[in-house]
Amino acid sequence: MSEGAISPVQSNLLASLDALRTDFARRFEAATTEQVLREENAKILGKKGELTQILKQMGSVPGDQRKAIGERVNTLRKEVEDAFAARLAAIARAKREADLHAPPFDLTLPAREALPLGHRHPITRMREDLVTIFRSLGFAVHDGPDVDLEENNFTKLGFPPDHPAIDEQDSFWTTSGHVLRTHTSNVQVHAMMGQKPPFAFIAPGTCYRRDDDVTHSPMFHQIEGFLVDEKVTLTQLRGVLSEFAARLYGEGTKVRFRASYFPFVEPGAEVDVQCVFCKQPDGTNKGCNVCKHSGWIEILGCGMIDPRVFEACGIDSERYTGFAFGMGIERVAMLRYGIPDIRLLFENDPRFLAQF
Ligand code: PHE
Repeated sequence: MSEGAISPVQSNLLASLDALRTDFARRFEAATTEQVLREENAKILGKKGELTQILKQMGSVPGDQRKAIGERVNTLRKEVEDAFAARLAAIARAKREADLHAPPFDLTLPAREALPLGHRHPITRMREDLVTIFRSLGFAVHDGPDVDLEENNFTKLGFPPDHPAIDEQDSFWTTSGHVLRTHTSNVQVHAMMGQKPPFAFIAPGTCYRRDDDVTHSPMFHQIEGFLVDEKVTLTQLRGVLSEFAARLYGEGTKVRFRASYFPFVEPGAEVDVQCVFCKQPDGTNKGCNVCKHSGWIEILGCGMIDPRVFEACGIDSERYTGFAFGMGIERVAMLRYGIPDIRLLFENDPRFLAQF
């Protein structure tokens, strides 16, 4: 090919080829990621790429020149392809090097955001804490049925057949004279029928009543406690319950006993603890809705077991005396955690439960 025979079209083509030849290596070198490199490659070899455009103009090159120019185009294409492949490999190598020199990744480390762990329901926790306290005071755990004969829930405990408390408390009856127990006191009957004193038991369990408001739920939990032996006194009952309150709510928690009536104890009392919702730093209470402005919240009923209960259960009431108490687990939990509405404990809203 002689210089003089070159047409303007050819010289344009040759100029474009030269420009590309001096340019492509630098352009590939400047690409530091695979994506940029591929884009750059497409600008040259793609459908509308610079080299493709040059190829398209080959038609206007005179036949005798075509072969020579065609060879130059093909050589350049080969160079571009090789440079592309080499640069692609270099980028992959560099990435691998960078990964290898990055700070080590320890697969055995615990995940930074730990999976949220569940936990026991506040009532379960409360029950376990109460059981622990009474066990440490020497009480053993006794079980009893949720569905029981009317006789064990009421009659043997001294409720006369048409006692108004039966109407107030009973919820579900079956046709066979069974009732969903209204308190855990039925366990006193089962225990006394089954063994001879001395014994000291607690009995946690579910109870059912016709009740539904801020502090009462139709299904709730109690812990019954009873101790029977020769010469058991009211003073011992007070001692056990005062010690219980101190262990549960802290030394110095005020407790008061109010005379009250339950058919199965004589004398009977209700025990109140200081309301935590309106307790002031100086130890006094200013009164609030939860304690109905009294400064006290009732947590349990108690008393000396009535001799008629002993007799109904086959225990010698001349020889033995004993005390019993029954406390609402929800009540105690509400006081301990400052829960103003008992229903929160049964709605199972995770926003509430997560706070325990
Ligand atoms: N069973 C009574 C109640 O449900 C509580 C109680 C238990 C009272 C033992 C005295 C003795 O309210």
